Order: sequence, then C-alpha cells, then structure tokens
Amino acid sequence: MSDAHGHDEWVVRPASAQDGANCSAEDYAALYSRSLDDTDAFWAEQAERLDWITVPSTIADWSFDPVRIKWFEDGALNICHNAVDRHVEAGRGDALALIFEPDDPAGEVRRITYAELKAEVIRMANTLKKLGVGKGDRVTIYMPMVPEGAYAMLACARIGAIHSVIFGGFSPEAIAGRVEDCRSDWIVTADEGLRGGKRIPLKANVDAALEKVPAKGVLVLRHTGGDITMREGRDHWYHELSDGVSAECPCEEMNAEDPLFILYTSGSTGKPKGVLHTTGGYAVWTETTFRYVFDYRPGEVYWCTADIGWVTGHSYIVYGPLLNGATALMFEGVPNYPDHDRFWAVCEKHKVNIFYTAPTAIRALMREGDSHVTKHDLSSLRLLGSVGEPINPEAWRWYHDTVGKGAIPVIDTWWQTETGGVMITTLPGAHDMKPGSAGKPFFGVCPQLVGNEGEVLEGAAAGNLCITRSWPGQARTVYGDHDRFVQTYFSTYKGKYFTGDGCRRDSDGYYWITGRVDDVINVSGHRMGTAEVESALVLHPKVSEAAVVGYPHDIKGQGIYCYVTLMEGDEPSDDLYSELRQWVRKEIGPIATPDHLHFTPALPKTRSGKIMRRILRKIAEDDYGALGDTSTLADPGVVESLIDGRQNR
Ligand code: WTA
Repeated sequence: MSDAHGHDEWVVRPASAQDGANCSAEDYAALYSRSLDDTDAFWAEQAERLDWITVPSTIADWSFDPVRIKWFEDGALNICHNAVDRHVEAGRGDALALIFEPDDPAGEVRRITYAELKAEVIRMANTLKKLGVGKGDRVTIYMPMVPEGAYAMLACARIGAIHSVIFGGFSPEAIAGRVEDCRSDWIVTADEGLRGGKRIPLKANVDAALEKVPAKGVLVLRHTGGDITMREGRDHWYHELSDGVSAECPCEEMNAEDPLFILYTSGSTGKPKGVLHTTGGYAVWTETTFRYVFDYRPGEVYWCTADIGWVTGHSYIVYGPLLNGATALMFEGVPNYPDHDRFWAVCEKHKVNIFYTAPTAIRALMREGDSHVTKHDLSSLRLLGSVGEPINPEAWRWYHDTVGKGAIPVIDTWWQTETGGVMITTLPGAHDMKPGSAGKPFFGVCPQLVGNEGEVLEGAAAGNLCITRSWPGQARTVYGDHDRFVQTYFSTYKGKYFTGDGCRRDSDGYYWITGRVDDVINVSGHRMGTAEVESALVLHPKVSEAAVVGYPHDIKGQGIYCYVTLMEGDEPSDDLYSELRQWVRKEIGPIATPDHLHFTPALPKTRSGKIMRRILRKIAEDDYGALGDTSTLADPGVVESLIDGRQNR
C-alpha cells in the first residue's frame, strides 16, 4: 500500500494493542457495504442500542433536491434519558460519567457518577422550568468548561428546550447577535470563567449583550466568586433558585425530528448561521461514531480537549461519550498552564486511555520539546485522535512517536458542525494509517470529489468534497432560514451536500483534506468567516474598506491577514494598527484577533468592482510568482503597490 506520492513508509499499521477492537478490517468492509446497500436495516440496528419511547418504523427519508432531511421520523425518544437515566436504570449508577479537572492543578477534582449526573441534571432541569423555560424554547448557554455546562445542555434536552451554546471566548456583540437570531429568552452563564489563571468576565459580557437585546431570565452559576452585578427580577443565582426544587423530572417525549440544539458557525458570507440538529438522528450518529471511531471499551477514561462551545464538545464530550456510558474528562484550562506539560500531566493523573485534541495544540506543544512529554507516565494511553484541521505529517509523527511511543494508533477525524459527528477517519482496528490523511468514510458516508464544473471525479483525484447521501447526524436546516441552508450547502453542486473543503483521494481510497476552498479560514481549529472579520473592521470609523484572507501559520494552521484601506484623511500608524486589532477582538472575540494588518490605499478589484481575493491570498502567502491572470483588474498598479507594501514591512 502506498499513498498518492508513492511513500510506502508513510503507512502505519495499527499496533497489536488494537486486538479485540470493536471493528476489524473484515467488519468494516461488511458494515460499510451494508450501510449503503441496506441503509434502513443498518441504521435500524444501530438505533437498537438506544431506548425509544416509540421505535421508529421509517428510517431514512430524505432528498437533496428539494432539500428535506428526516431520519427515524415516526420514532420518539429523549436523548437525556439515553445519555443519563438509561445507565442508572441498567445498574451502572456508580460508574463515572464525568471527571472534572480544574484550571488550577491544585484545585479540586470532581468525579461525577451517572447517578449523581442524573440528580444534577434534574436539579438544573427543574430550575430552568421554575424560570419558565418550556419545550421548544431556546436557551443560550454561555459557560466555562465546568460540569454545569454539560448539566445545562442535558437539562434542556430533558425538558425539550433547544440549547444554543456560545463559546465562552465570544464577545458581547457576538452573544447579542446569536441571542437575537434564535430569539432566546433565557441565558445560563457563570460569574466568571477561568483559563490559564485568568478570569473571563462571563456575566459582565452577558450584561453588555443584554443592553442590545432583551432576555427574560439569566441563571448564574457561582464559579469563581468574583464580583458581578445582578439585575433584580432578571438575574438569578443558580444555587438560590435551585434550592428546594424537586428531585423528580420526567424526560419529555420528543419526536426524533424535534430540534435538539442550534450551534452557530461561520460561513463564507454574512453572519454566523444557526445550524440546527434534531434529536433521533443526532443521538444515533453520535452514539455510533463514538463507539466505533474511539473503539471505546467499558471503564476507560476518555478525554477530548475541545470546549463545549464547539461541535466537538457537543458530540464528543457530552452526547457521544455519555450515550455510550463512558467516562469523559472535562478540562477547564489550557495546554500551557501552568506549564507546557499540562496535557500530559492530566493524562498521567487521571490515567487517560483515549485522548482527542487538535493539530494546533499538537504543533504548539511539539515546539516546546519532548521533555514535557517524556517526564510523564503515559502508559495508560491506548488511542490518540486529532480533529479540526488538516494535521501536517510532521505533527502527526510527533504525536504518534513521542506521545504515543510509536505503539498506539492515531486517528485523524474529519467532520464539521453540519455533519454532527465524524464522517471520514481510519478505524483503529480496521485500517492502516497514513500521516496527514483522514482515511476512509464512516458507515453510511458517501464522499464524492467534484471538479469546478461539477464533473464527478473517479479514482485517485483531487477536487471539491461533496457527500451524495444523507446520514443520520446531518444538520436539518439553518435555524429560521431554510433557504440559506439550501443555498449554502446544496446549490453549488445540485443534489449534493457541498462541504466547502478541498480534498484528494489516493489510489487506496484514502481521503486527504486540503482545507477550505471557500472564504472560511481555520485559525487554531476555529472556523472563522473572513466576511465576519471584514464587517467588524469596517465598523471602525477610520476604516473605509477591508479584505481578509488566511495565510499559513506555523502553529495556528492559518493566521488572519487583513488588508485595510482607511478613510480619506486618515493615515496608518502603529497606534491605529493596535487599535484595529483590539477593535476586532472586542467585536468578535480574542480568537478573531488579526495576526497582520496591511494598510493599502486601494484593493485589487475587477472592473465590476469585485475584490480579487485570489491575488490577496497569494500576496499574503508571499507567493508573488503565482498571481495568475491580473488582466481583468480595473487598476493593475494596485498589485505592485501591495507587493511593495509586503516587502517593505
Ligand atoms: C476542518 C469541527 C482536515 C475542515 C469538527 C472542516 C478538518 C472544518 C478536520 C469544520 C480534519 C475538521 N482534517 N480538516 N480531521 N476536521 N476540519 O465546523 O475544513 O468547527 O470543513 O467542525 O474544519 O469545522 P467545524
């Protein structure tokens, strides 16, 4: 076996540690074909591992043209019952559901059993009810990485409310936009968050957001004990309001297609979209992918370092692991606090078996040297995973050789907010691994590579990655804007779901994701629309126009490069440079802080006024030889002055 470059040595066989894996090579071949040839029977079987109030009789019912996606349509269930109560009822109430590792390594570790989780979720659910939250209501969750964040999500699911989790690093403006978009009357937050020893003013950010949009109630967890203001009648301390609530709270019966959550994500145009996931399909998809992809075995400790504010946290800290009755570690902190060995110290401390993180973290830690890893006993590790962006082979090698001691598999999982769960990955017991390739499609996933004219590319080829069939975990719509859903994902290549990613398939049928082909950039594994950063910049009174592109960045994968033209009479200066960076940070959040600003008197435009981003990307990459055709430019001189500006910086 060799990859498309003929590098035989790049193929890494799964180690013998994988004996007894959930899925062997033969199993994969059989299950994958069955998932495509006998789709309904396959997914009906997978769904049997869950408790249904009404077992579904229709399984797949979808069309990509017109766009209408339904799975398990006449089934009824509650995902919180399946993630929590079911395990307690099966006599596993004493098994650990969550392990909480606080930001401060000397702080208190919390170990929460499934029985305790059930009690905590019920307490939160009854408190939400007391506030007035009911089935179908949208609840915004803006929380630090503490177990109460997971309780809030599960409590919403229990009572049929739709959660919309906002990453704790987002600004008041971003919160207000999301609260307004889904008309969420309720917000669950904490006084402050804690990351790397620094306090994050969560409640103060919510207060600032609520100056722009109304809300009926804010539930506040006391976490750091920091000073905050509470508005009478609107804001409630969780510990006070939850005092004396009943210890019973039945799980609401939900139709499989009832909404479970909204999660905002960036696209190539406009404001972030509220991607909507529904109950049954998402439950089956996260349960099944977690089980096979992480090859989870009872009693193991699993740690995903993502934040619950992102889809990875939804599917692989909360729902996937808990639906499997797994023990999931929740980490409040950051990889380099108090030192660069924190991840490995936590792995050793909690005897982590399965570890799932992002390439940006791997690259940053790799740079700090091997000693941070080697001084810890990592013998508990059995499986390593990567997600969020393409992993460069060098980082893959280090992860495999230094962290995994060359003895355990590394799975590279490709998926998106819109896909609900993993779509392309090698399965630990089934596939050889190739550093830098995500691998093979998961059960039920039909990838297709399409050329720019819409032509289908067969065999070893490179093109735009589409998916031709629906899968249970697929997003159903954009909240409140189905047309936008259709436009964004199904109109580029009619009848197909277009991922926005470029991809190569080698002669072994392995997929190599090459990154976004649209105006979305991936900064430290966080998805960012260049349009969002541009809108933030032009809100500044001195900015006339802005164009934002990604450029290769050693640690972050991609950095944010902003071309800025100023208003007549305003001049570039060092002060304005830092002011604009702070401005974007305040408008969107720290993750959107520009890495580089390039002041220019003009932007390269076509005669019809369209900004030529292709050229801007090349200049940001210092790739001046490959500017391509500039003959359609209204003023070709702009390009030379941009290159001059770049070289004299
Ligand atoms: C990128 C995160 C290469 C990709 C789960 C995708 C990846 C976007 C990988 C989705 C991977 C995610 N290899 N690229 N293993 N995983 N991506 O919605 O560009 O935050 O379209 O979901 O991240 O980002 P999102």
